[in-house]
Amino acid sequence: MGAPSVPADSLVPRPAEISTGAYDGLVLTPSTRIDADHAARGAELWLRTELGAATGLPLPRGDGQTAQIRLSVDRGAGLGSEGYRLIVDGEGALVVGHDPAGVFYGAQTLRQLLPPAAYRRAPLEPDGRWTLPSVRITDRPRFGWRGCMLDVGRHFMPKHDVLRFVDLLALHKLNVLHLHLTEDQGWRLEIKRYPRLTEVGAWRTESQVGAGSPAAFDGRPHGGFYTQDDIREIVAYAAARHITVVPEIDVPGHSQAAIAAYPELGEGEPVGVARHWGIIDNVLNVTDTTLEFYRNVFDEVLDLFPSTYICVGGDECPKEQWRRSQTAQRRIREEGLADEEELQSWFVRHFDGYLAERGRRLLGWDEILEGGLAPGATVMSWRGTEGGVAAARAGHDVVMCPTDTSYLDYRQSGDDGEPVPVGTVLTTEDVYAAEPVPAELSEQEARRVLGAQVNVWTEHMDTPRAVDYMVFPRLAAFAEAVWSPGRREYGGFLPRLEEHLRRLDALGVEYRPLSGPLPWQSRPGVAGRPR
Ligand code: ACM
Repeated sequence: MGAPSVPADSLVPRPAEISTGAYDGLVLTPSTRIDADHAARGAELWLRTELGAATGLPLPRGDGQTAQIRLSVDRGAGLGSEGYRLIVDGEGALVVGHDPAGVFYGAQTLRQLLPPAAYRRAPLEPDGRWTLPSVRITDRPRFGWRGCMLDVGRHFMPKHDVLRFVDLLALHKLNVLHLHLTEDQGWRLEIKRYPRLTEVGAWRTESQVGAGSPAAFDGRPHGGFYTQDDIREIVAYAAARHITVVPEIDVPGHSQAAIAAYPELGEGEPVGVARHWGIIDNVLNVTDTTLEFYRNVFDEVLDLFPSTYICVGGDECPKEQWRRSQTAQRRIREEGLADEEELQSWFVRHFDGYLAERGRRLLGWDEILEGGLAPGATVMSWRGTEGGVAAARAGHDVVMCPTDTSYLDYRQSGDDGEPVPVGTVLTTEDVYAAEPVPAELSEQEARRVLGAQVNVWTEHMDTPRAVDYMVFPRLAAFAEAVWSPGRREYGGFLPRLEEHLRRLDALGVEYRPLSGPLPWQSRPGVAGRPR
């Protein structure tokens, strides 16, 4: 912890502009004070809490005269949305943000300028020396949507770990946590009007282990859900870190847990909450009562989540049950639809209208293009980039997350020792190199790309430790791809990443070491399905 501090070129994601200053830097002491204007108070509180814990320093509020660290918002400084300037000079440290988010990102960068021990919850040495090096940084994100989808349906992530995950996203300057709250294998959100969604739908008797054939099961119940107060807490905690929580209630496929709770939502025989992975034939029916049920569910979702974007899923909905269903076929005839694809569009469009009337916007996986895109839809392009290209050309906003560059459930190397290896190989370098904007888009079409996200599907991540392994350090590479401007060269990133891993060590993140899994991170004997 002695001076000088960590070199400024260890920052992740790399700032747009950085130069080293000519001063000695700012030594944090028991008399160091923070001053913040009203709009910057959130970042001030965050900085005091985090640095206070790590350093043991009180960092009390000062004023313009007495403070060594000053935080402010200045929309006239030309920094751009979420942008900031951070200067450490002979006067102290100054963070100016274009908006409160910009100040927060400046404060995040300020913390990265300190040694990795700044990421601990208590000081290692009572009298450690903490020096902010003299720098001048001007920074702003390349994209407005820098997201991560977390599937809490396949494996529930306890609230405590979700809050920790939010902190890890914020450390990487990401601003969207897309929570995939409902699945065939579990419904994770308390809905007051329909208590059986969690009484029945939030747990299963056992889980498939791995992706082998024939399927193996663990014989152990799994479950959990978030109360509405848990969600309010998560949403507020994320908002204080400038992260929007985008909820996903997946319809009309991936709904077996809901059907298990309320069989009248389904097309077939009563079913239990699914125990196995994969695409499941049981889907929602298209009756008026099912639409009403989900409008009632979304009414509660909208009360809980202030996000403009509300995700209705729309992915992987097999049409076999609808082909055999009298109510589905009647609906097709009555609405003058061509086929079951158009029936799915009709279903999605219903919720597009519902959301638009309430000032929200529908987000869905790229299957919602099939059978015609709902007028207000924003598309998540996951089955390659084609869906994103088509949607952008049709004048819709898109979020890019193609499997081969964005699916963090995919294996991190070609080695047999990777735990439950599925999908194609997606290394940290691959994630780093991936360009979010499809090359074939014109400049104007490319403006429809809001940004990108990585997706963390958790069939094979049965604990937060396993999530750590799959998400890190690939998330750090992704963060730079969506934040930093200019060319990306992995050779330049790697030394910074190695420094950054010391921060993750201090935080207790069980990332995949660059050399491969530690023995206890492997899963010998559990079959994957590599492609
Ligand atoms: C998806 O991976 N089913 C969106």
